[in-house]
Amino acid sequence: MTSKWWANENFWRKSAVWVTASMTLVLILLTFDTIPKISVGSERVPAYSVINQRIDYVFNKERNFQVPVIGQAQPLFGNTLNEEEAEALVTWGKKITQGRNCMNCHTLLGNGAYYAPDLTKAWLDPAWGDSSTRESMMVNFLMDPVSNYMNDSGRKMPNMNISEQEAQAIIAFLKWMSSIDTNGFPYNFKPIDQEG
Ligand code: HEC
Repeated sequence: MTSKWWANENFWRKSAVWVTASMTLVLILLTFDTIPKISVGSERVPAYSVINQRIDYVFNKERNFQVPVIGQAQPLFGNTLNEEEAEALVTWGKKITQGRNCMNCHTLLGNGAYYAPDLTKAWLDPAWGDSSTRESMMVNFLMDPVSNYMNDSGRKMPNMNISEQEAQAIIAFLKWMSSIDTNGFPYNFKPIDQEG
């Protein structure tokens, strides 16, 4: 009795090996294609020293969403940092958000939870006021979110005993993250008003 090719166990075994091997290759190629696009200092992910500048968003008709525009000098906490210093501060802030598990409630760059506001563009939240109040309001909020709550949604962020230095590092991380061109994501964030 001759068995049909589609009933042949060996055929399916060989196909599985081939599909797995070729898809592994495709994944490796895609990874190499992605790395330059998500590296710091590339077209869409600005260098860390972008925290020395103003970050605006302007509606782009072609892409049909808000895109980041890196503006004039606007040093964070009055300090202009070189690339190395900026990297150290932003990285510290990122490690605090990882170590304190902010993602348990918040979303950052598409990862995390939806209990609390998305933090990807939190630097641009109009609730912080303009450039004269934003930094101090953010520090006060992070150091004592219970008394300095933002809205009356009924959800309050717990006090996580964040020090002033830690708050500044977190804010540096948030400012840098807000400069990333995330293809309009999260799509409903409200950019700060142009401050003139
Ligand atoms: C238990 C849940 C929870 C955790 C954990 C948490 N947050 Fe929050 N966070 C909230 C809630 C709820 C709000 C909204 C509070 C309000 O409106 O007063 C908030 C608001 C914020 C805001 C203001 C967002 C905006 O766009 O206005 C920032 C910034 C923030 N959190 C940062 C952090 C950081 C950094 C961490 C980690 C160190 C963290 N949160 C951990 C619940 C949490």
